[in-house]
Amino acid sequence: MMIFSPVTVGQVSFLLGVIPLIAAWIYSEFLEYKKNSLSSKFRYSEVNLVEVEKEAVKEDDRAVLLEGGGLQSASPKARTLSAWSPIFRFILMDEAFLLENRLTLRAISEFSVLLAYFYLCDRTDFFNTSTKSYNRDLFIFLYFLLIIVSAMASFTIHNEKSPLTGKSILYLNRHQTEEWKGWMQVLFLLYHYFAATEIYNAIRVFIAAYVWMTGFGNFSYYYVRKDFSLARFAQMMWRLNFLVLFCCVVLNNSYVLYYICPMHTLFTLMVYGALGIMNKHNEIGSVIAVKIIGCFLVVILVWEIPGVFELLWSPLTFLLGYTDPAKPGLPLLHEWHFRSGLDRYIWIIGMIYAYYHPTVERWMEKLEEAEWKRKMSIKTAVTLITVTVGYLWFEYIYKMDKLTYNKYHPYTSWIPITVYISLRNVTQQFRSYSLTLFAWLGKITLETYILQFHVWLRSGVPDAQPKLLLSMIPEYPLLNFMLTSAIYVAISYRLFDLTNTLKIAFVPSKDDKRLVNNIITATAISCGLYFISFVFLKIPQMLV
Ligand SMILES: *[C@@H]1O[C@H](CO)[C@@H](O)[C@H](O)[C@H]1NC(C)=O
Ligand SMILES: *[C@@H]1O[C@H](CO)[C@@H](O)[C@H](O)[C@H]1NC(C)=O
Repeated sequence: MMIFSPVTVGQVSFLLGVIPLIAAWIYSEFLEYKKNSLSSKFRYSEVNLVEVEKEAVKEDDRAVLLEGGGLQSASPKARTLSAWSPIFRFILMDEAFLLENRLTLRAISEFSVLLAYFYLCDRTDFFNTSTKSYNRDLFIFLYFLLIIVSAMASFTIHNEKSPLTGKSILYLNRHQTEEWKGWMQVLFLLYHYFAATEIYNAIRVFIAAYVWMTGFGNFSYYYVRKDFSLARFAQMMWRLNFLVLFCCVVLNNSYVLYYICPMHTLFTLMVYGALGIMNKHNEIGSVIAVKIIGCFLVVILVWEIPGVFELLWSPLTFLLGYTDPAKPGLPLLHEWHFRSGLDRYIWIIGMIYAYYHPTVERWMEKLEEAEWKRKMSIKTAVTLITVTVGYLWFEYIYKMDKLTYNKYHPYTSWIPITVYISLRNVTQQFRSYSLTLFAWLGKITLETYILQFHVWLRSGVPDAQPKLLLSMIPEYPLLNFMLTSAIYVAISYRLFDLTNTLKIAFVPSKDDKRLVNNIITATAISCGLYFISFVFLKIPQMLV
């Protein structure tokens, strides 16, 4: 087996960190097994059966509590020990500690094995490589096949009632948002798999729609819940960046290669900042107006005035710099500028829509109750207007060539998004349908986005764009497509779950002190591992 690129310090640190954890997990499974076989032996002795049963139930309860607690002991004695105690207990291989955290250790082990699989697929020649080829017929066939299948198998009619009014929810419900994400994501991924360059402009619109949702979802959340706590913030950052961080380390990639992640992180932070600053006054309409104008001004300042972008971001070049090996010579921040610039306004539009959402919802409820003739004429008018606007956009903007389109995109992407939303919601029946299969795929968009680079497509060397395909069944492109896709979607789903399990274990939602401790501990351990690996790897090289 050949490895394509030299081993890095980050990769060695990862290995050093993960091996003891996997060993500890195997040991904890062994302890668990021993404990269970012991207690079943008891059961057959003269010990009162009922007593043992009760004991076991108590144990289970405790385990459930601990699962939520992660690396924290529940016994009061241990709680008074310092934040370092989990580390010591780990080093000492404290049996109770290992048993308590068996499930967390198992999740960590599974996570590391999956990352090792990425490496195997993308950085070694263990599997074969094939090239992309585009056939419009096949592309559309596959997409429609999926739509038909999901329409037949997962067509769902929702009948949710609004908690406030008791009427059915009319506008922007969760299933539809997820379904929307799902069908866009499928097209986006197929576009990458088959190199369907002819739909480039549509893909730009989809990405704008995701960013729109970031603005919409986060604005609604912070506006209504007013939860600006550290814990909530940490959980959000974990969700967006946990997997990608490890991918960068294990595969030696730049953060900006997976540009969706830094971009959503940035816009999430902007929404958080916009609403978080002086959040006591968010109730007042004019404060929100000032904040939204402020957002526009910041974007204009940073992205429209030449030079400001480079000046502002240059201190973060270590994080956001990127060079595509296929196009060396571009400035380091070029990719970040291009990607973040394309969707610089649409998150603000999402915020505005979120702000007016309750108003529109009320308005729509009224419309549904109006007399039939009035209702129909308004709906027909709305449909006609949106269809016309959509058509004009398609004819005069969408059809432009890629480079010209990109210039207009930041100012026009709200048009197709608005058209879609208004058509999707125009009748009550239409609103209450959703395709659950697509909604299911919509939940794991972040994972499918990151994983495609490594276990479905293939980039080969660090930082390269995935121009190739992973091939497990050479000579049979369609069978190969089926097999790699199945594995890919399954792993994405596992990683979605694992990210969540580990989040619950390490990012406590009600204990800020422990959260800060965890952050400090994690940083200290990573630095230590990095240092050791550095010494391991570099000293021999220096001596030679
Ligand atoms: C309106 O359409 C958008 C796009 O699908 C969707 O996210 C939203 O949930 C829809 N709202 C309603 C009420 O259907
Ligand atoms: C905020 O935006 C991020 C990025 O799209 C998303 O993952 C997250 O779920 C959003 N938060 C809320 C509360 O909608």
